[in-house]
Amino acid sequence: MTRRRVAILISGRGSNMVSLIEAASRPDFPAEIALVLSNRPDAAGLEHARAAGIATLAIDHKAFPDRETFDRAMDAALKEHDIAFICLAGFMRVLTDGFVERWSGKMINIHPSLLPLYRGTRTHRRALDDGVLLHGCTVHFVVPELDAGPIIAQAAVPVVPGDTEESLAARVIVQERILYPQALRTICDGTARLDNGRVVFSRDWDANGTLHSPG
Ligand code: GAR
Repeated sequence: MTRRRVAILISGRGSNMVSLIEAASRPDFPAEIALVLSNRPDAAGLEHARAAGIATLAIDHKAFPDRETFDRAMDAALKEHDIAFICLAGFMRVLTDGFVERWSGKMINIHPSLLPLYRGTRTHRRALDDGVLLHGCTVHFVVPELDAGPIIAQAAVPVVPGDTEESLAARVIVQERILYPQALRTICDGTARLDNGRVVFSRDWDANGTLHSPG
């Protein structure tokens, strides 16, 4: 098995990053985490990655005059580390179309909503304001349009009376940490692949599983 060399891009605490590192530490996982890169030198996740023995790099976006030069610096660093695939994990910079196109089909993201609902920011607040009873998270390929790429995996959670943004975020992040390694595995082992802008799966499917909210 050739393990794909993956870079994780973060901006903050990196709890999804930790779950990807843990999953990839198993010998049968089809990817290795070869680099953790942050646009914020103070991102807490960098320390966790270092402690796990992963190569880390901080490229401070504030040191660059515009998005193009920042993205080119990231691109050069990714090539230097021989990276084949990118996982965005709480990476809070909008990427240029040029960068996204260079990594087309080789870059995925996790987003804290059931896309296509709630693209962008403040997803938990907006879900609460709308009164939806199911919310969740999505792993998708990255395309130039924000949070609009082909969907690889989703997990749903109930929204319960009395929920706050914090309680809902806490429920969703538990599922994010389970979903992201599963989604990365399916892409790297070929169980899920991009075909004409859609994700196609070669696996059995349980068509009877449902989630009711209220349950
Ligand atoms: C996660 O909830 C992730 O889905 C979200 O940021 C958080 C990062 O947490 N990403 C986005 O909102 C991207 N649009 P983490 O640093 O603990 O993984």
